[in-house]
Amino acid sequence: MGWSSWNSLGEGVSYDVIKAEADGLAALNTHITSNARYEYVNIDEGWWRSGQRDESGNFIVDTTQWPGGMQAIARYIHGKGLKAGIYIDAGPRGCGKRADGTHFVGSDFAHYDHDFLQFAQWGFDFVKVDFCGGVAKSYDPETTYRSIAQAIRRAYSQTGQLMTFSLCDGGAIPTSKSFPDYGQGPWVWGAGVGTMWRTTRDITPDFGSVTYNLAGNYHPEGQHTGYYNDPDMMVAAMGMSAVHDQAHVSLWAIAGAPMILGNDLAKPLEADAASLLTNPEVLAIDQDALGLQGLLVAQAGGPQVWAKLLAGKGQRAVVLFNNSATDAPMAVTWDALGLDPSSQATVRDVWARKDLGRFTASYTAPDVPAGGVTMLTVSGTDAVPVAWQQGPLAGTAAYSRCPACLGGKKITRLGTAYFRGGASTARGGFVEIGYVNDGVQTAYAQLAMNDGRPTTLAFPPTGGDGRVGAVTVYVPFRAGPNTLALSNADPSIPAPDIEYVVTVGGPVPLAFAISTAHQLPRQVSFLASTKPSPMRHDDRRRNVS
Ligand code: GLA
Repeated sequence: MGWSSWNSLGEGVSYDVIKAEADGLAALNTHITSNARYEYVNIDEGWWRSGQRDESGNFIVDTTQWPGGMQAIARYIHGKGLKAGIYIDAGPRGCGKRADGTHFVGSDFAHYDHDFLQFAQWGFDFVKVDFCGGVAKSYDPETTYRSIAQAIRRAYSQTGQLMTFSLCDGGAIPTSKSFPDYGQGPWVWGAGVGTMWRTTRDITPDFGSVTYNLAGNYHPEGQHTGYYNDPDMMVAAMGMSAVHDQAHVSLWAIAGAPMILGNDLAKPLEADAASLLTNPEVLAIDQDALGLQGLLVAQAGGPQVWAKLLAGKGQRAVVLFNNSATDAPMAVTWDALGLDPSSQATVRDVWARKDLGRFTASYTAPDVPAGGVTMLTVSGTDAVPVAWQQGPLAGTAAYSRCPACLGGKKITRLGTAYFRGGASTARGGFVEIGYVNDGVQTAYAQLAMNDGRPTTLAFPPTGGDGRVGAVTVYVPFRAGPNTLALSNADPSIPAPDIEYVVTVGGPVPLAFAISTAHQLPRQVSFLASTKPSPMRHDDRRRNVS
């Protein structure tokens, strides 16, 4: 959660301007009655405007614009209890142009170590890396961003400064067969490279753009355990109607998307904007500990039902999105939520912050406004988890004693561990992986379904006493038996010990909306109600060759 300068300020950033926005963000946080906080103040393009570096190879920072340099603004932001973000391009030139038509200078392979070390030394906690210069040089997004991730790791080992890495290639799908990510967007390979990756083109403050980005962001198999599809910074409180604003915030929250606000916080905030941006129950759905993306579970013409698996027994979030021109009643069934249809479930309206009662099998909201939403939590009865069978171990993997584990053992020293199992639906589903990580650092493993391309999972520490933790991920099942492999992601970083894999109940996606890790991702356009406005920059995002 945070704020970025681009949507309302463009290149008009400076110490004084960002200072006022940081003050505004801190003030906004005082309205939040839970522990959720907008944390990051991200300075986007415009912080440097030079077409070249200085003779020492540094970015030229204008000290009229930034008295005290970039470290001074980072320090100011930290002083407000917030984190500071900066922006750069992965190629030799930035997106923006100078008055003479030349581009701002970018980073580029030869400068990555130098530049990301510089950002860390300045004290930044977040870096967004664009790809305009990457496109100009026909760079491969995956190779480029992996190289930057290494530079960020090296900067960390030199400075101890952690930087959240935000990839911004607009969800480009490379068309060159020589690229490792040929035919695949960043949702396939981004986990473990960065924390979040843009999936679509730039958002603009109109509802057609919001629904367009929502659709292009739909890659639930790519998002888990701290890795996020990014449908772009938000345009709430920037001139759309109150109904559309509320739908936008709800849809970003159910997607578990980064909530990076874009409105001008230096201006006095209207009371309704403050309540729109600080509803603790909506923020809790966005920030839910499982970090999963909501699934599209029903659609009838325009209206759509979105549902998200939340942490805790039988917990779901639901957005009834009436993407049509007429107010209408809308229903959600317990079947679609993966809840026992014969058991009662408690339904709560999270915008109204009111319990609606207990219902069996389904709930119908009597009147969802045209273009708007009703947002609910539903607390019901989960399906019983189904254990996957442990299959062969390969490489260094072996069983070891684990008093806290079911069966008294766990798989240690990955290698690869295979599991066989399935789901009640062949449309994908949720698996929970029980693990032990008694180190102090996050451990990593790769998950591959049915020999598809692996994705990286993060396994946070579970405590030093052999306690078992769990991560839940959405995986593309196929009909019949499925094989799931967990492998060591990289021998130089710790892997978790694995206790079990089970299928758990969760929302059941509509069949047609699924793209899997081993299929070519297709651009889904079923949500777009109107054409989005043109991008502010060249439409360079769709293909990279
Ligand atoms: C690209 C990005 C935007 C913003 C601008 C700045 O278009 O996608 O989010 O950073 O560049 O020029």
